[in-house]
This record gives sequence, structure tokens and C-alpha cells, in this order.
Amino acid sequence: MCGIVGYIGTRAASSILIEGLKTLEYRGYDSAGVATISEGKLQRTRAKGKLKNLQIKLEGLEDPAKLGIGHTRWATHGKPEEHNAHPHTDTKERLAVVQNGIIENYRELRAELKAKGHEFRSDTDTEVIPHLIAEYLEHPEGTVLAEQSTLLEAVRQAMVRLKGAFAIAVISIDFPDELIAVRQQAPLAIGFGQGEFFCASDTPAIMPYTQAVLTLDNGEIARLTPMGVEVYDFEGHRQRKKPQTLNWNPIMVEKQGFKHFMLKEIYEQPGVVRTCLEAYLNTEWDVDSDRSPIRLGLPDVLLDDLQHIQILACGTSWHAALVGKYLLEQVSGIPTFVQYASEFRYAPAPLMPNTLTIGVTQSGETADTLAALEMEQTRRMATGEDQYAARMLGITNRADSSLGRLVPHLVETKAGIEIGVAATKTFVAQLMAFYFLSLELAHRRQAISNERIAELIDGLRQLPAQLEQVLESQERYVEELSHDFSQTQDFIFLGRGINYPIALEGALKLKEISYIHAEGYPAGEMKHGPIALLDEKVPVVAIAIKGPVYEKVLSNAQEAKARDARLIGVVPMNDAEAEETFDALLPVPDVDELLSPILTVVPLQLLSYHIAERRGLDVDQPRNLAKSVTVE
Ligand code: AGP
Repeated sequence: MCGIVGYIGTRAASSILIEGLKTLEYRGYDSAGVATISEGKLQRTRAKGKLKNLQIKLEGLEDPAKLGIGHTRWATHGKPEEHNAHPHTDTKERLAVVQNGIIENYRELRAELKAKGHEFRSDTDTEVIPHLIAEYLEHPEGTVLAEQSTLLEAVRQAMVRLKGAFAIAVISIDFPDELIAVRQQAPLAIGFGQGEFFCASDTPAIMPYTQAVLTLDNGEIARLTPMGVEVYDFEGHRQRKKPQTLNWNPIMVEKQGFKHFMLKEIYEQPGVVRTCLEAYLNTEWDVDSDRSPIRLGLPDVLLDDLQHIQILACGTSWHAALVGKYLLEQVSGIPTFVQYASEFRYAPAPLMPNTLTIGVTQSGETADTLAALEMEQTRRMATGEDQYAARMLGITNRADSSLGRLVPHLVETKAGIEIGVAATKTFVAQLMAFYFLSLELAHRRQAISNERIAELIDGLRQLPAQLEQVLESQERYVEELSHDFSQTQDFIFLGRGINYPIALEGALKLKEISYIHAEGYPAGEMKHGPIALLDEKVPVVAIAIKGPVYEKVLSNAQEAKARDARLIGVVPMNDAEAEETFDALLPVPDVDELLSPILTVVPLQLLSYHIAERRGLDVDQPRNLAKSVTVE
């Protein structure tokens, strides 16, 4: 996680760095810092906490420097204190480095460098980098390959020694016309302006200045000077690369009258579903037509003759994948396995033939998901057998991400930029992607009748209006209800079938932004252990939607009630049985159970939002979290 930014050019670097960091703060907000170089001086300013603390420190400081780097941190090694904030320097404070990622072998390197007299001042893994570069600047090793720049060569030699996944930017007072940027398994883009060049973890930091952007590949080093950009590999060989023109404009995302981005994003969900329907439904399709009802634009070679699907994801995207599994099995009839990407990396299932691998990640940058997909691609290719060929698909909200470059096929979730760290509208958009994919496959395989497909599509079309209804009818009530839980310490969320992942998602939302301990369980599992947790202090939220398990969930809820738990039900509107069972009702329109997750998740998002708000917490930037998890 962490965001890095760098600038070299003709304008004052400091304000460009701060503006860039504002767009990268979603990547971490434990501390921030900038370093600039002008007239042979390295000026470094760092502050604990959010970027605004750094801005306060920089106020009134005249800094004419035209070269600089900046960082916003999500702490991995070392507490979020000022002395651990980036940029870090070497002992003589002649060079400064910012890093996003983890240096796995930092302990050995630190010991080695300390023995050579380097003085360390932080608890971070990053600090080994400036010391190592300084060491190679003083004592270059072996053949010097990148002879045209001593700094580039020292960075290259240092990079070869580092293990881990990282992106860095380096400046030095001895090389006042150079900025060196490196990508090794963490995102880094280079921006090409008129006589000015940029580097950043994500393109929104660059887009206000130029749309000509080059994304570095792993194992590449870029040397930015006022004259241009050169790219090398870790062996010092020059790479011929050209920037691409990004065809979107940076949108200044505003709260538009909402108190928090999260609430605004919850309210954007009807529009997101509408956009997805417009993008992916084939309006010319009818039950008698042979053509597909869905327009995902995916090739036959990816989707035909599938025997299995495996889905890799983390966090909320993993919950969306669980809903996807339900749909792909129950609607399309394909055995589907969902794995945490972080687990799959180190214990992949034995290869299965004719398998579609799907990576789900809204950011397209989650390190574990990317690494798991890359590993799967490699091990499938290694077999050389057609039946094990890698069929890879990504579901993401960022087509321009690392995922977009890794996998050959994408389904874009079209949710628009999401600022709140807690995913809401991107989750709903991921669910939509799974509805489309499962209907596409069901149609290809004739797993369900065209009439049933038409029924489901009709149901999907009603969702935007139904979402509006849920938001309109519940906002005030959920806000009031949240007053009862501002001091609550534990919550249980129950769901079954397709709504079990929604129980997990409801619990995750509450944990993330209100810091209340919450567990999501399949309702039928409660009696196998978690029921021991229940008493009058532990509220239970149950999702009970009409379908084969409706009565079962109501019985499970009764079991909780018998243990004095306060019962909140996400239930169909105007349902007498539900009204009798639950103490508080969060009603949603009575829809086909298969489509219900799009609606049932909304009251849970609102509940977490209002409880967190009531507790006076930072809803959009909850403690310890970051929007994009680019470390393992
Ligand atoms: C969602 O609210 C979380 N912030 C988190 O679990 C997130 O879903 C997870 O880190 C995966 O992110 P991705 O979708 O960008 O891969």
C-alpha cells in the first residue's frame, strides 16, 4: 500500500507532490512526507498522521525546488511515527528514498550495512535502500553496466540485492537533475509532460499534468531527467518504451452534499446497477433468439467446454466471489471453487482440466490476487497441455491497473471511482458482473431455459428502482436504530445460501469502519458453536429472504431469540412472519432470492455507516486500513 510520487521539471515540486499525495491518500494515511532538492540542499519534511498534518508543517515554507519525491504511508515495518515516515535518507543525508512495498531481506541487509558503519534512524524495512544505494555509490561492485549515470547504476546494483515486492523513487543532492524510479511487483507509472516528468503509484496523481503515461513493468528502472525518460532492466539494458495516451480525464470527486464518501457511494448504487445493465445486457435478445442475452465480449475459447471455475480474491471481492460461486453453480451448472488469493499462492489445488480462473479485485492492484493469478498462469503454461491451458479472466473496476495488464480478458465493473475505504458500490458492481457471467454461461450451456433467463433479466432490470426504494425507506430508520448500538461490542450476522456471503460482508463492513467485533455465519452453523456467544448484549442480524431456506433462517433466528439476543431482520417487505420474529426490521422488496444480495447488502452497509458515524469515527479512512493492499 503506501503511495509514492515524484517530480522533476520546471515548476515548484512541493505543491505538485502534495496534490499528487492527495490523490494517493487512499493507499495509506498513517504518515506522509516529502523531500526536495534545490541548490545542493536536501529538504525533508515528514508528519505523523494524515496528509493534512504534513500540509500544516509545509505552510509558509518557501521551497523553490524543481525536483522532489513524496510518500503517504500505510505502516508495515515500524509504528506510524514521524521517524518511520518516508522519505528515508542515507547516513550522510545526501539521498532520499520513498518506497511502496516490503523489503523481505531487510534484516540481513541492515546488519551488513550497520557493520559497514551506516547509521539507521528508523524501524522500517525501507531505510536499507538509501544506505544500500549510498554504499554502491561509494563502492560500485562488479561491472558497471549503466555507465551513463552513476546514480542509476548504484540504484540498479542495490535493486539486485533486494528481495520482495516494491516500487521506489530516489533523489540525491549529488545528482540534482535525476530522479530514479523502480518497479518490482508494485505499481508505478511515469508521466511525460513538456520538460517535466512524473512518477506515481497511480495515474490520478499524474493526470492533472499529462495524459501521456508509461506504466513500468516489473524489474524496470526509469531515469527521469529534465530532458526525458530512459528505461532499463535490472541488468542495465536499455528498454525502448513509449508512453500511451490515457483517454480519461481526472474527475475531482466531491462529496456532493453527503457527509462522507461512503454514504454518497451507497447512494450511487442504483445508478451503478443501471450503468452495468446498459453496458452488458443485449437489448435485442428475446427468448426465441439464438444470440446471447449478455454482451461481455468474451471469446469462445475462454468460456466453452468449461469443467470448473476457480475464483481468486481477497476481502470484499472474496465475498462477491462467493455470491459468484452460488450463481455459477446454481444458474450455469459449473462446479466453482473460491479461494483467498493469499492462501492459494502457497497451497494451490492440484490442476484441474478445462478451468476458467477468475481474479476479482476492484483496485486491480491487490498484491496477493495478482501474485496468485500470475502463479496460476505460469503453472498452467508449464504443463504445455491444452486441457490445462490458462484461461484467465479479471473482474475489476480499474481496467488500467496491473490486473488489466496481467490477464488477457476483463469484465469492467463500471462503478466509477470509489473513495471510501470500505467497498460498497464496487461490491454491488462485482455482483452484477457475476450475474452477467453466470447468465452468459447458462445460455451457452443451456443450463436453464431461455424463459428462466428472461425472468432473471427482467428481475435485474427492476433492481435500480428497488435499490432506490430501499435507500429511501430505510435511511432515517437505520440512522435511528444505530443509536441503540453505538456501545455494542459484538455482533453476529447470519445468512444462508446466496445470502451467506452477504452476512460475511455485513460483518466485514461493521468491523472495518466501526471497530466493533462482528462475525458472519451461515445461519445453520450457529448451533455448532457460535450460539455460545449469544446473550442480551450480542445483537444478531439475520438475512431471511423468501426461498428454500426462508423458514430455516427464521428458525435459526428464533434460536438466537431464545438466548435473549436482540434480533434484526433483513426481510421481505410486508411479511407477517418476519414481523413476528424480529425486534427490528430492515425490509427489502420481495424479489427472486437469486437477485436478493444486491438489495440485502444495502441495509447492512447503512447500518455499519450509521453506527460508525454515531461513534464519531473516520468512516472514509478507518484506522489501519488502506484502499489498495499492494503488500503481501
Ligand atoms: C473492502 O471494504 C475492504 N477494504 C477490503 O476487504 C478489500 O475488499 C480487499 O482489500 C480487496 O481489495 P480489491 O478488491 O481491490 O482487491
